[in-house]
Amino acid sequence: MALDRKQLARARARLEARRTETAARQERLEQEIFARVPELRRTEGELRSLLGGLVSAAAEGGPEAAGRVAELDERTRALCARRAALLRAHGYAPDALDGTPVCRNCGDTGYLSDGSPCACLLALYREERNAELRRLAEAGAHGFDAVELRWYRGADRENMEINLTICRDFVGTFGPDSLNLLFQGGTGLGKTLLSRCVAAAVAEAGFPVVYETAQDAFTVFETQKFSRDAESYHAATERVDQILDCDLLILDDLGTELTTSFTQSALYYILDTRLNRNKKTIISTNLDDRELARRYLPQIVSRINGEYHTLLFRGEDIRSQKKRERYL
Ligand SMILES: Nc1ncnc2c1ncn2[C@@H]1O[C@H](COP(=O)(O)OP(=O)(O)OP(=O)(O)O)[C@@H](O)[C@H]1O
Ligand SMILES: [Mg+2]
Ligand SMILES: [Zn+2]
Repeated sequence: MALDRKQLARARARLEARRTETAARQERLEQEIFARVPELRRTEGELRSLLGGLVSAAAEGGPEAAGRVAELDERTRALCARRAALLRAHGYAPDALDGTPVCRNCGDTGYLSDGSPCACLLALYREERNAELRRLAEAGAHGFDAVELRWYRGADRENMEINLTICRDFVGTFGPDSLNLLFQGGTGLGKTLLSRCVAAAVAEAGFPVVYETAQDAFTVFETQKFSRDAESYHAATERVDQILDCDLLILDDLGTELTTSFTQSALYYILDTRLNRNKKTIISTNLDDRELARRYLPQIVSRINGEYHTLLFRGEDIRSQKKRERYL
């Protein structure tokens, strides 16, 4: 099973949340126990200092330390027995103060001592992966049937029929020889809807698929470049890697971002890297060819013109048509 980074990150986050929650629950239980049995607070404190002494004595080494280790060990055992008895007497499990992880194999860290992922992490990962597939499938729940032709008239309908045929074929034959697609046309004509259907179907066939609006994708690159803490840097880097490396990237709404030299270079980098790796991309945009040429660097425009097959979206804004229909 090839691990998808975004879903793995989510699975890890859930494990982390579980660890935090377990720790918080343990803390509450501890406070409750200490309030009811004050002696246990004292034994707990004593136990901690005994253990501290044990560790430093053991680290010291030598015959003298060995004697002290034995003595401390003896007292620790006695105290533990006392503690277990007290807990039992008050109706608690004898190990109630020890704090048990949900997963005993990895202590809820998600990884075994040899560095391999634990079964519990893989189970969470599978859940995340299925959830992601469900989310995508929701968008294309009825496959391409969600894309109705009745909203397009005359030549626009014929045009849309061709788009649908190309997309069905794209899904059916998806692989290294697939085309890159540019969905181009006015607002409310089904570009996002159709691209989600394609994404869902390709993901269902088992390929890693990422759907991002161009704006969001650029923000991820920005976060990676300008983040100040390691955690957001790593999270952003994982997403950047996915954007660059997934088998199919849907880059929706290109041209709605505030275009800066940063977004230009990020876009160039995305398109160029993916072409070099022979990974497929679907771009959707409201901009026509002239607007694209005016807004983006020649190196970007040249790649789109040369390497992408254009599907035009024509007709009357389906958002407005549906709105009108609701009021009729
Ligand atoms: N062929 C269609 N059949 C049924 N509903 C459609 C169709 N095309 C679009 N819609 C609906 O119309 C709305 C707008 O569609 P969509 O978001 O796909 O348009 P778009 O081309 O991406 O527009 P924009 O350029 O503004 O992003 C959505 O609610 C969508 O579900
Ligand atoms: Mg859209
Ligand atoms: Zn585990």
